[in-house]
Amino acid sequence: MITNTDLEYKGNQLPANIVKFKKDVDTLYFFTSNDVVLQITIVRDSVIRFRYTTTGSFEKDFSYAITKYASRGYNKLEIEEHTNAFQITTSKLICNINKSDLKVSIFDAKDKSLLNQDEIGFHWEESYEHGGDIVKMSKVSNEGESYYGLGDKSEHMNLKGKRFQNWATDSYAYGKETDPIYKAIPFFIGLHHKKAYGIFFDNSFRVFFDFAQEKRNVTSFWAHGGEMNYYFIYGPKMNDVIENYTDLTGKPHSLPPLWALGFHQCKWSYYPESKVKEVTAKFRDLKIPCDAIYLDIDYMEGFRCFTWNKDYFPDPKRMVKELADQGFKTVAIIDPGIKVDKDYWVYQEGLKNDYFCRRADGPYMKGKVWPGECYFPDYTRPDVREWWSGLFKELIEEIGVKGVWNDMNEPAVMEVPNKTFPDDVRHDYDGNPCSHRKAHNIYGMQMARATYHGLKKFCYPKRPFVITRSAYSGTQRYTSTWTGDNVATWEHLWIANIQVQRMAMSGFSFAGSDIGGFAEQPSGELFARWVQLGAFHPFFRVHSSGDHGDQEPWSFDEEVTNVVRKFIELRYQLLPYLYTAFWNYVDHGEPLLKSMVLYDQDDQQTHYRTDEFIFGNQILICPILEPNAKGRRMFIPRGKWYNFWNDKVVKGGREMWADADIDSMPFFIKAGAIIPVYPVQQYVGEKEIDQMTLAVYYFEGKEDSQLFDDAHDGYDYIKGRYSLRTFKLTGKPTELIIQQHKEGKYITTYETFKVNIHGLPFEIKEVQIDNVQIPLEQIKPNGKNSLVVDKNFNEIHIKGV
Ligand code: GLC
Repeated sequence: MITNTDLEYKGNQLPANIVKFKKDVDTLYFFTSNDVVLQITIVRDSVIRFRYTTTGSFEKDFSYAITKYASRGYNKLEIEEHTNAFQITTSKLICNINKSDLKVSIFDAKDKSLLNQDEIGFHWEESYEHGGDIVKMSKVSNEGESYYGLGDKSEHMNLKGKRFQNWATDSYAYGKETDPIYKAIPFFIGLHHKKAYGIFFDNSFRVFFDFAQEKRNVTSFWAHGGEMNYYFIYGPKMNDVIENYTDLTGKPHSLPPLWALGFHQCKWSYYPESKVKEVTAKFRDLKIPCDAIYLDIDYMEGFRCFTWNKDYFPDPKRMVKELADQGFKTVAIIDPGIKVDKDYWVYQEGLKNDYFCRRADGPYMKGKVWPGECYFPDYTRPDVREWWSGLFKELIEEIGVKGVWNDMNEPAVMEVPNKTFPDDVRHDYDGNPCSHRKAHNIYGMQMARATYHGLKKFCYPKRPFVITRSAYSGTQRYTSTWTGDNVATWEHLWIANIQVQRMAMSGFSFAGSDIGGFAEQPSGELFARWVQLGAFHPFFRVHSSGDHGDQEPWSFDEEVTNVVRKFIELRYQLLPYLYTAFWNYVDHGEPLLKSMVLYDQDDQQTHYRTDEFIFGNQILICPILEPNAKGRRMFIPRGKWYNFWNDKVVKGGREMWADADIDSMPFFIKAGAIIPVYPVQQYVGEKEIDQMTLAVYYFEGKEDSQLFDDAHDGYDYIKGRYSLRTFKLTGKPTELIIQQHKEGKYITTYETFKVNIHGLPFEIKEVQIDNVQIPLEQIKPNGKNSLVVDKNFNEIHIKGV
């Protein structure tokens, strides 16, 4: 195995000089005298695709990552031939290609600054062992350049000085340095001189990245096969890089059902039925909100997917219905390994139709997972995916299960050294037959895709909810995800915080960690701190391995239960805010969480921050990551922020102390924000919401906020049945104006807004709603600045002295 770029290695081959050039609409070809061809496609003004072949012609163009819905088109495309180079110009980028060696340099079209430049550039090494090439790309790492992204890496936020590998791996109890783990997301962001760009290396083979580790001034990426095929995505804002990457690889196909943003309780495993009921009843007794309860592998008959252990669960349909009556949605696990058992219908169907993966020489791929020896569907075949989707009919349509959890889909195989299929296993790869070397990293994605389509069909007109462990770029279109088998340690809380932020900047926002830690047992304090962080993760689930003790909110002491309840309640109160952020993610790929560097890349202080992040657009969070803390030092980004707990305003751009006893955590709201707030519910839909609270945080200046709403399930919002409200706040020394702009056809259940104003620096003398003055008594009930207004107000104008 090649674990370094080995740039001096004599096997490395380089492109020769350009001898011919061809343009075909948006695609340009540069032919060299040694059969290397560089194909450049202008996807958008700020997105350029680079593809290289060493044989004179390209393989069939196929990618699981790129979505057919990706936007295409540019405003400008000029190509000029100069003495030493070709120059391509779009309205955002200038790209030079050297005639002598095919090296590429990319500049900002406006200020001509250098963004990215080949070092050796494209080079390759023939692989006698596998056939084909090991394809390599080396780039100059610029002065002060930082690197971010790459999915679930359990490392520092800034990847500079490190080397990584993408090979989806079942990694029980992984640690801070473990690499690779479950996901393979070959997308990173470079940031230097205040400008950010992204590189998406769309190659599903085993892929490597070196961020100025081997050589201080070189960043490189290479793959054990396939093509050198990457997209250069320009910002200069990191957010634009991420939105463009997410556009290319796909936004979630729909919003999640709102309940999926509630709290989920899981364990390996809750069984029998009486245990499940005991847990769910306790949530309701203790008034701890919860929307989803999980069934791990023990609900099955001998771990056979799509079966039930009838001793434990005699009547699943009745149970699922009874749970639903209490507001619980049942989520069940489904793994890829199908037990080799001639009396098992799924196995029989798979065998009869030849749906299982085979070894190179013909026998089926056989490997041990939970049920013992298994065969594995080849999800890279459309007919197999179709079959797999169909298997969910009973579980979803009949029994009423609301969500499916796909696990072990790296794919994981037990008791073998490489933990997965051998390289020779064959896959169809949607009509591009290949070995497991190429299909490994996309196997989990294709399984989740097939699962998603099954759920979508059988729960229609409701929205599907899927969760996956393994993923390749683009998997965010179908499913949510979690970070796998972590450990109940403080270090893992640090890791979880970074992983979920990193997933968000890698286009996959709907992510969370096993709260409390999967392996081992957390102290009550660690559990409470983890729930606090989890309340601000898009996917909010407690999960643990049963043999390490209990991890329900009441499994520790009463103080912990109370803290946990408080933060779960807070999550439910913030649901309209989170749902609005989710809509922005689904609509235009805006990440749900923003790391400090993503929030304010121009402030160098953010480049190495790890702990703080912005939840949505206007809430700043910083988890407590140590025991016995009464607070912590943290970084507050530039601007003014209200401490959520006491309304004190702080000015950012610096580190400061924030109090946070065990029942609290550092939590700030951006000045000027208008945060929509729900009443606490025990589960989504428990209450009919007839009034929405708007928490208004006075600010001398302007700030826009949004509120999205719809039926919380179904697809009507796609047909325009949504309600999007934009609030424009303008604060002056003795005035506060809130204007509302409304969009969409959905009639919200709430009729009024309760407007609570925080931090008003003046005494109110006059209030006008849509130019009509209202009696002052209406705004000061209980001495607080609060008023109730019709939801369709256009303008609230508050004046003081
Ligand atoms: C794997 C999963 C874990 C699950 C267990 C049993 O370890 O990562 O979440 O509980 O398998 O299904």
